[in-house]
Amino acid sequence: MPASVPVSRRTALRLLGGAIAVVSATAATASPAGAADARRVNQLLAQLTLDEKLTFLHGATDPAPLGQAGYIPGVPRLGIPPLRLSDGPAGVRVTAHATALPAPALLASAFDPALAREYGRVIGREGRALGQDVLLSPMVNLIRTPYAGRNFETFSEDPLLASDMVAAEVGGIQSEGLIATVKHFAMNNQEYQRQSIDVVVDEQTMHETELRGFEAAIEAGAGAVMGAYNKVNGTFACENPYLLTTVLREQWGFGGWVMTDWFAAHSTAAAIRAGLDMEMPDGAYFGDALKKAVTDGTVPEALVDRSVRRILNVMDRFGLLAPGGIPPRPARDAAAGARTALKVATRGGVLLRNEREALPLTGAAARSVAVIGPTGTVPFVSGGGSAHVVPDAAASPLDAIRVRAGKVTYALGEDIYGRVFFEHTIPAGSPVGYSHDIEVTVPQDDEWTFLVHYTAAHPDRPKVSLDGGAELFPQAAGYGEYFSGGLISATPDGLSVRRKTVALTAGTHKLTVTATAAQTFRLARITSASRAEDVATAVNAARHARAAVVFAYEDATEGLDRTTIGLPGHQDALIAAVAAANPRTVVVLNTSSCSAMPWLAHTAAVLQMYYPGQEGAAATAALLFGEANPGGRLSQTFPVSDDRHPVAGDPHRYPGVDGEERYSEGVDIGYRWYEARKVRPLFPFGHGLSYTRFSYSRLTAEPDGRHGLRVTFTVRNTGRRTGDDVPQIYVGPSPDLALPQPPVALAAYRRLTLAPGQARTVTLRVPARVLSSWDPAAHGWVLGTGRRTVHLGASAGDLRLSRTAEVH
Ligand code: BGC
Repeated sequence: MPASVPVSRRTALRLLGGAIAVVSATAATASPAGAADARRVNQLLAQLTLDEKLTFLHGATDPAPLGQAGYIPGVPRLGIPPLRLSDGPAGVRVTAHATALPAPALLASAFDPALAREYGRVIGREGRALGQDVLLSPMVNLIRTPYAGRNFETFSEDPLLASDMVAAEVGGIQSEGLIATVKHFAMNNQEYQRQSIDVVVDEQTMHETELRGFEAAIEAGAGAVMGAYNKVNGTFACENPYLLTTVLREQWGFGGWVMTDWFAAHSTAAAIRAGLDMEMPDGAYFGDALKKAVTDGTVPEALVDRSVRRILNVMDRFGLLAPGGIPPRPARDAAAGARTALKVATRGGVLLRNEREALPLTGAAARSVAVIGPTGTVPFVSGGGSAHVVPDAAASPLDAIRVRAGKVTYALGEDIYGRVFFEHTIPAGSPVGYSHDIEVTVPQDDEWTFLVHYTAAHPDRPKVSLDGGAELFPQAAGYGEYFSGGLISATPDGLSVRRKTVALTAGTHKLTVTATAAQTFRLARITSASRAEDVATAVNAARHARAAVVFAYEDATEGLDRTTIGLPGHQDALIAAVAAANPRTVVVLNTSSCSAMPWLAHTAAVLQMYYPGQEGAAATAALLFGEANPGGRLSQTFPVSDDRHPVAGDPHRYPGVDGEERYSEGVDIGYRWYEARKVRPLFPFGHGLSYTRFSYSRLTAEPDGRHGLRVTFTVRNTGRRTGDDVPQIYVGPSPDLALPQPPVALAAYRRLTLAPGQARTVTLRVPARVLSSWDPAAHGWVLGTGRRTVHLGASAGDLRLSRTAEVH
């Protein structure tokens, strides 16, 4: 029989059949911000009227908004300050400028928890400096499907890596006095039907995959949790007693508060009973409706008190209720933010391919470079949606390359803003009701992309119809313009952009533009002739240079999943054409997640940079030219194609059928699925090359302390440059457990820097939790005892040494 592992006090109680008692806030004791003063909180609570209590439980309009997402007014009469809540995962999202940090997916690729803490500290300090009290970050939902629109905003497909990242980042954010909100609790792994999808998932899968990151955040002392939009096993996450009470409070001992995602509340009495504390951003359910429920006795006031106490407790932990006023706000340190942004982008960059040492660009290759692609000149700083940050400044990769290379040419290659053929400004004060017809001549049957660039927001933006038909650019259903993408949704001169591709027959067509408000707008087009011209110019530039660097993009945002892992537009054809013209073609990917690479075999090198933040250009150039040696590793598997990944070919698995989605892959998320099914990915989880090489030897694994393992091995830099390696330990299943188990699971890793010829002996500990499975019958963790295989590898697909060790 496997032994039970008392991983948390709550679980231990449960496994021993003990009475269910809420463990007092583990969170409070773990927090750098200290514990709440219960007496002070009780005194304040006793003085609050019901109306005042309710103001804590739902968002309100900020009388002095700073551009943040949410506001809680506080109670001035008792000296309780307001709370301002801002996004988000890649920097502080307010009206003012802030450090636009690299996307969390890039941070996770650095495999470096200390760097995640530094990242958190930048956001923590800036959040406080920019007038914020609560940060709506980090996002820790796992990368389960390659299509999910927010994969850039979160860390990884692997529960251990995600847990390490979130714990370190929460620690960093909160060490600066900003309250962190881990989101979106839970199973919010896609954007398609995110407001309603019902995720059907078994208890074991939930605990072993998605929930582990949340638990790590709670252990790290996160002050707040944001409930997800979706349902979990039939009940909305924001009113789900299993998630909000059984797991969060009883199993994990969470002492902070739970808020909804924005407009994710669905009920009053059911939600507060289930454990929801705060509705955001308004009070549709927790305002007047909650007051009525309390006054008519449907909801006991004690439940309101419970929620207010949770919020006040966290506020007090962070010094916000101190009699002398809130802790002083620091000044922004933009230079320090920029330094960290550069460091993260440099350390996170993943070199996927490097044939015949095409990179770094040195010697003749560095003296003559063709830079190609729209994101070569328009820096792709951050993704869209609530994670978009207004950067201090962002240089273009082209400029960063110019200062490092000899002769540099630039070609657009892929047009994302179109050739403008009509422009108009309706001045302020002019009569409303502008309407204009424009004739366009199409020389041959063709596919055209029409674009509109405009200044006025919905519903005033211009309406364009083709040949008297329906509007070309209607408001997209389900998400607003707020959620348009990070790069291609605006022109470099700041106009919003919409695009639509249509098949046109040869002849004359009529566009009708109507507008109702003062604004500037432009109409632009991309035709097969303009596309061919752009590719020909790029090929010509590549042919006349020693090296070609193609910047390829994929623009993602919350609120929207993509429908393919192929690069958007005609970029695949562009890359193939450039690679055919220049064997030293390097592709830099500014993408949200994995992508298919049909041109891969013809390229010399591929560098994955995701959305690299405001210092992305400098980081990319430093890696390309060898000022920095790439050490990032993929935090997610890159599949070969749309039909060879864990959710392919089964609509019940993704995107769901009749509003229901089944996590039938079970615990085999990410690389575990590829290993279990023997499907070869394009690039495995953990993969990443360096400009030097590393060898592994002398692997040993033995029992360590309380049910864990101690693993020791030697890493040697066998190349000619100093570089970083990330040796990874994976463990195989336990022979003693009858539960489903992944064929391999990441158990430990370490990023380390080695000089040429240098060797280091590394000892890593694999804790009992990593060797345990969640037993749904016992509702707790059970240790996977017996002889287990321990692998040492350079990625999940490159396991080089194996040993067995007894777990007991
Ligand atoms: C997003 C959250 C975000 C919130 C506030 C929601 O749509 O899902 O991640 O924190 O908006 O901006």
